[in-house]
Amino acid sequence: MAGKTIYSVLVFDSGLGGLTVLREIERLRPDLRLIYAADDAGFPYGRLANDALVQRVAAVVGRLVEKIEPDLVVIACNTASTLALPVLRARFSIPFVGTVPAIKPACERSKTKRVSVLATPGTVRRDYTQALIRDFGGGCKVTLVGSERLASLAEAALRGEEVSSADIRAEIEPCFADDGARTDTIVLACTHYPLMLDRLIELAPWPVIWIDPAEAIARRASSLLGAPGEPENAQVEAYFTSGDEPNPALLRSLAHFGVKPAKSDLLVPV
Ligand code: DGL
Repeated sequence: MAGKTIYSVLVFDSGLGGLTVLREIERLRPDLRLIYAADDAGFPYGRLANDALVQRVAAVVGRLVEKIEPDLVVIACNTASTLALPVLRARFSIPFVGTVPAIKPACERSKTKRVSVLATPGTVRRDYTQALIRDFGGGCKVTLVGSERLASLAEAALRGEEVSSADIRAEIEPCFADDGARTDTIVLACTHYPLMLDRLIELAPWPVIWIDPAEAIARRASSLLGAPGEPENAQVEAYFTSGDEPNPALLRSLAHFGVKPAKSDLLVPV
């Protein structure tokens, strides 16, 4: 990519979870032109059947790539990455960086050899996730926990809604196993979950290491682009497939990530 000074990067998720990856890219590469896109009309992806998910992601990302012509796309969604990356890479010539469960670093760090993977039901079901455990489990007992509600609870909190501790606790409790040795490391294998990290820490029955791969993803994306140029400091424009107007609380949350909804009908509701 020599000769270009401003690279544009599309960060894509089913909803607002990708903001946790966007935040790390912004920190590492303030020179990039970043565009955020959420397929909120299809949220949550965790409940979609495999074929439906691949078709949907290929259609929505395909349309975005045609209109925006980014230099690189980050699929900031484990549920989509663990299934749809091969199709996207086969269809487009630009690089795609995915987000997949950080099982290897978690198993390397665990001292008790008890690791849990907190993810959507879709990510938990994937062959891809099983293969990561087989190849990188390193003798650890890995507990897969498919959470039905945590991504939606994280979205509700960003929209300013009250999310009860009991609701969060019910989703994370199965991660804490004790068979004489206790779980000491939990992989946040859905990009939504780091949005709630403070509350996860507060509600954990005992302290654990929470693994969020967002910084590593930002480094990987940066390594595929040319050297950093001058900081852009531009606001990130965000596209939502629902076409819904964000409420005032969500607008404030988005502003906190340096994001504002785009005034464009680039994405008509799907
Ligand atoms: N943020 C997505 C992920 O990383 C999942 C949320 C959803 O179910 O759509 O898996």
